[in-house]
Amino acid sequence: MNEPRLSHGTPPPRAPGLPLIGSLPGVLRGQYRFLERAFATEGPIFELRLGPLTALVVGDAEAAEEIFVKRARNYDKGGEFWNGARELLGRGIGASEGELWRRQHKLMLPKFQRALVEGYRPMIDATIRGAIDELPAETPIDCTRWCDDLLSLLTVRILLGSDAPMSLIRTVRESMSALFAQVLPEMVLRKLPPWLPRPGRARLAKARALVDETLLEIIADKRRRGPGEDLLSALVHATDEAGAMSDEQLRDEAIFIYTAGYETTGASLAWTLMLLARHPRLLPALQEELDAGGDTKPLLHACIREGLRLYPPGTMIPRRAVDDDALCGYSVRAGTLVLVCPWLIHRDPRWWPRPEEFDPERFIDGESRQDRPRLAWVPFGAGQRICLGKGLALLELERALELLLSRYTPALAEHGPPPAARLSTTLKPDRPIVLSLRPRAA
Ligand code: HEM
Repeated sequence: MNEPRLSHGTPPPRAPGLPLIGSLPGVLRGQYRFLERAFATEGPIFELRLGPLTALVVGDAEAAEEIFVKRARNYDKGGEFWNGARELLGRGIGASEGELWRRQHKLMLPKFQRALVEGYRPMIDATIRGAIDELPAETPIDCTRWCDDLLSLLTVRILLGSDAPMSLIRTVRESMSALFAQVLPEMVLRKLPPWLPRPGRARLAKARALVDETLLEIIADKRRRGPGEDLLSALVHATDEAGAMSDEQLRDEAIFIYTAGYETTGASLAWTLMLLARHPRLLPALQEELDAGGDTKPLLHACIREGLRLYPPGTMIPRRAVDDDALCGYSVRAGTLVLVCPWLIHRDPRWWPRPEEFDPERFIDGESRQDRPRLAWVPFGAGQRICLGKGLALLELERALELLLSRYTPALAEHGPPPAARLSTTLKPDRPIVLSLRPRAA
């Protein structure tokens, strides 16, 4: 890792926006197009004004490599944004920093290794088969909801074990959704004076108390039982020279893993199914590859990666610049909130000709290619903070697509333009993705 450079270069251009409030209206409407317009007129790095907040949007693959890899020490998770996230969701690994992050990473990394992730495969397959069996025959389905429910159930079972009772799974899912429903509004409104009436605050406190109580009880139970095969049990019994993690740390890790693992993968599955339904010419070759049952499935892997390019679920990856620096010749002031934007990096026409086109051929030889920068594809981030669940997410996506496409052929159930992406914590469609599933001949 290199040392940060002293600031040089010119101030970055500013995204067009209204005086005083900047691009806030576009962001609040969840729209992405203004980002693309700014990318086209100002270039891949520009300043975004959101009312009182200013951020630097980075849509350049090489600048992303500077931030995540080469000068990672200068781009941390400090500052207002991350303090807010920690206050609301705790100090799980993705929101932690410094010594705490190093310790958690060392304890947790082994639990996400390939062999252990493979151990979840029978449970993943059984859960997906159960969800497919419940699909209504011949009626269009709300694919967004189906994928969300499936991934929520899978993530809770990975955390708690395949034998966790449905009543407990339901309590965890419901208490977590109640908490997350309050998090985004609270992040935006938390700086308002405390005397202003805010009904959301009481709801947040209630949801948080329920999540704490449920998870702490589960953790105590897992401590009593000894090591099991689920992820939370593996974390409960993981130790280093300082001993085991505290109950509170384990609770925060469970909250973070659920947040990081379920909406992202659920959204990605729904977007990929929509893309496949919109490109029916690809389906016979894909289904033939799956029916052949070979060990390698290059077209399936390529479709998943191309889906993640067009719809990267992690919309912005935030960092705080510690010291003054420069990126692509533009100065970056210490303290700046830097938002690395996979959505823009994945649409850079220098690396992705016809960027809006779904073309899995781009990935047929794997994720990286000589003719594009290393970080031209960054749905999972990069560097030391790269997604720990990448292998697990790819396995879940592969199994869900394979098992579904071996039984059904998806088709669009509605005419007209497809749902558009909406800016949110994860990349969601602006209306449900509705698909018809045509049973395949046995
Ligand atoms: C398609 C699905 C997924 C996507 C696109 C995704 C994306 C990301 C991204 C972009 C980051 C890096 C954030 C940063 O640099 O600040 C991240 C971190 C992380 N993700 Fe994922 N993720 C996915 C699925 C999962 C799953 C299934 C799990 C676990 C069950 C998971 C666990 C984590 C963890 C623990 C981190 C924190 C790593 C650290 O800070 O050291 N993710 N993810």
